[in-house]
Amino acid sequence: MTENSFKDKTILLTAGPTHEPIDPVRFIGNHSTGKMGYALAECFAARGAKVQLVSGPVNIKAESQSINITPVTTADEMYAAVKQLAPKADIIVYAAAVADYRPKMVADKKIKKSGDELTIELVKNVDIAAALGKEKKEGQFSVGFALETHNESANAREKLQKKNLDMIVLNSLNDPGAGFKHDTNKVTIIEKDATTAFELKQKTEVAEDIVNLIWERTHG
Ligand code: CTP
Repeated sequence: MTENSFKDKTILLTAGPTHEPIDPVRFIGNHSTGKMGYALAECFAARGAKVQLVSGPVNIKAESQSINITPVTTADEMYAAVKQLAPKADIIVYAAAVADYRPKMVADKKIKKSGDELTIELVKNVDIAAALGKEKKEGQFSVGFALETHNESANAREKLQKKNLDMIVLNSLNDPGAGFKHDTNKVTIIEKDATTAFELKQKTEVAEDIVNLIWERTHG
């Protein structure tokens, strides 16, 4: 693979968490930092790709000039951006930690403290990878992530099929040093007919491994 390996290719990536508002000052979110998604974006850009990065709220910045960022906050906004950009993408990587549910009602004023208990009703968000998987165009290659605590392989395989993905990057929370809040990650890449396990490494090196395998599958 060289610095021109992905020349003329457009890569669409989602990264970071989504924030689902409860009222003007509160939201439901998660601990995703966006590091894995941004590392992938830099790695594709370094190999000549044009990168469309749809990013939830994060504290990191993209370095490469070839990365075009569409900042979003909620899952609905992320879906709208991805849907618009997907038709032009050769490869789509869903690295975002999308909130599965959002508050049914968003209060227009700050919710004041009252009783001892407060119940917030949640409704399901769109599954962006699954929705786009249904309209995947011929030749488009798609990659998802799965974070699992039990039955890791079986759950990842189910997601591969349900979301019509070509590849799924499995992080197990049982591996020390892997997952949220770490600069390192230990992944297993699962495909329909192959499983490739990698050692614990820096997220930037994990990104290289993922991009290398995507290159082999799309150019091999
Ligand atoms: N994903 C997505 N939209 C969602 C939820 C997940 O695009 N609303 C994508 C993620 O970016 C990731 C993959 O789907 O690539 C798997 O996400 P995960 O949260 O592990 O899977 P879920 O289908 O939400 O399953 P569960 O939370 O029940 O394990």
